Amino acid sequence: MPISDRFLKQTEKDPENRVFFEIGTLEGNGIRDALNHGYDRIISVEIVKDYYEDCKNRFSEEIKSGKVTLIHGDAADHIQMVSDIKQPITFFVDAHFDDKHYDDLKKETDDVPPEESFAYEHIREFLNNNSNPDNKIIVDDIDTMLRGDNFWSKDMKYRLQGIIDLVVEFFKERNIETSFTIHSGFDKRPNDILLFEFERI
Ligand SMILES: C[S@@+](CC[C@H](N)C(=O)[O-])C[C@H]1O[C@@H](n2cnc3c(N)ncnc32)[C@H](O)[C@@H]1O
Repeated sequence: MPISDRFLKQTEKDPENRVFFEIGTLEGNGIRDALNHGYDRIISVEIVKDYYEDCKNRFSEEIKSGKVTLIHGDAADHIQMVSDIKQPITFFVDAHFDDKHYDDLKKETDDVPPEESFAYEHIREFLNNNSNPDNKIIVDDIDTMLRGDNFWSKDMKYRLQGIIDLVVEFFKERNIETSFTIHSGFDKRPNDILLFEFERI
């Protein structure tokens, strides 16, 4: 789903956190919303070449000005780049397929990653490369994760509880407290966006 514009508006309250790192570009509506809500730098990774190419046209001005960077590839191969970003990052975890889309894509292209490339792995990779407690992590489509749609692992470790345990444990070891809140998402879908925020104790 595209991120909810209403939800992103809340992030304007944190003017220090102005780098938006999105995995899963689709048609670029997350980029558009991040631009509308004052992010200074937006990086977005998309595995499907057509979406990437379309967004190159859609955001050609912002790409030229250096505000937007688009990357074509599997998020798992690009998340390491956050280790070079010194400013706080809003990490938007949204790289997945719905079941129908996944099956269609498998027929069309070799670019499709195995279904195991779940939010859990993407978040783990992010944390291992950037543990700045001023970062925020946003996970979209929690609603489908709670229902256990096929594109999420059947293993609970990789679903909501696993993701929360991963993040909380990671920061606990560093004396940092994690809080998380669940928000309505695109189209006012209830309980769809998970937001992690952190505080040094
Ligand atoms: C829910 S959509 C993203 C919506 C977008 N973030 C927005 O706010 O409008 C998911 C996108 O993730 C892409 N995707 C799926 N697996 C991916 C991966 N491993 N790496 C990068 N992109 C991926 C899909 O092709 C699809 O375009």
